[in-house]
Amino acid sequence: MTNDTFTFETKLLHNSHKIDPVTGAVSVPIQHASTYHQFDIDSFGKYDYSRSLNPTREALEDVIAELEGGVKGFAFSSGMAAISTAFLLLSAGDHVVITEDVYGGTFRMVTEVLTRFGIEHTFVDMTNLEEVKLAIQDNTKAFYIETPSNPLLKVTDIQAISQLAKEIGALTYVDNTFLTPALQKPLRFGADIVLHSATKFLSGHSDVVAGLAVVKDEKLAKKLGFLQNSFGAVLGVQDAWLVLRGLKTLHVRLEQSQKSAIELAEFLQDHPLVQKVHYPHLACHPQHQLQQKQAAGPGAVLSFELKDEELLRMFVSNVKIPVFAVSLGAVESILSYPAKMSHAAMPEEEREKRGIRNSLLRFSVGLENVEDLKKDFSQAFEKMKGHSFAYKGA
Ligand SMILES: Cc1ncc(COP(=O)(O)O)c(C=O)c1O
Repeated sequence: MTNDTFTFETKLLHNSHKIDPVTGAVSVPIQHASTYHQFDIDSFGKYDYSRSLNPTREALEDVIAELEGGVKGFAFSSGMAAISTAFLLLSAGDHVVITEDVYGGTFRMVTEVLTRFGIEHTFVDMTNLEEVKLAIQDNTKAFYIETPSNPLLKVTDIQAISQLAKEIGALTYVDNTFLTPALQKPLRFGADIVLHSATKFLSGHSDVVAGLAVVKDEKLAKKLGFLQNSFGAVLGVQDAWLVLRGLKTLHVRLEQSQKSAIELAEFLQDHPLVQKVHYPHLACHPQHQLQQKQAAGPGAVLSFELKDEELLRMFVSNVKIPVFAVSLGAVESILSYPAKMSHAAMPEEEREKRGIRNSLLRFSVGLENVEDLKKDFSQAFEKMKGHSFAYKGA
């Protein structure tokens, strides 16, 4: 039996960095050195300077590449550093077709930074293949997918978009933050680059900011490796170790949170104060079938709409268990307000156009007992009931 034949949960523990070959340590040693003595003036060792390569960061890069099924992984100082560095594969005059309800930081990078360097973009509803085809230009060099998208949980057909990209010689990028390789492996469907905010489920404990990228082939690995070293936004060793430790429990954390998310989505869907629930597990979700085809589960993040901002504010001030915060994918449940948090970088008009309303909340389900979460939501809803005008159909 080789590592390749292990199931995902076994690979999280038994991978190429299970044991330190020098000491036998079962936890990857944190190698703080910034530089390395060279024993031979004519032939340098594998490690010479930690921006270029560091053993602790390298362990994380190897593990994420194994988990995503790619040839090489890269670790960055944040998800945005990974995404921004990957965008540097493009050049002035290139064009990118991008998911319209993309994470706000990516929106900001594309609209306010890449434009200054002559990289054009078109936002599209990636769930509509015809719209995607219409957006293609002679200079289209990349398709940027987030699936499920943030915060509306729209699901894009990775295989169909990758196919379109191949036909015109463009790259397909997939932000896999919401599902992680535990549930979705974009490279299998033809994507070229997988990106992660490892700040979220991969590390899982709200204690590190990190980003990862994995590429499918050696040619791309060389190019991205060159950019990682040139741009220099690499992950520090303590943080690399924290992500490695978090990864060991990824499967159990995500499985438990997803189980609770399914229950909670059904609970919210049935509640008269909730206008709409966005979650690909629900049969009414427009891409429910597609999600089942390309992913092993719906994930542990959902979003829901209340009637208006006033009710949303009441809900937020009355729920007790979740932290009300930016971020997702942690052991504790996180309630977020996309309009003022993840998508604050998007002008209100653009947000509204995309359906990211002031009455929308995003919920990342943690490891609390789901009955406690339901009780907590119920008591918050109970306090809002006086505002009966908000009931569905009113
Ligand atoms: C889907 C998605 N991609 C990328 C990012 C950016 O990651 P980071 O905050 O680690 O820079 C986030 C952050 O919330 C995100 O939700």
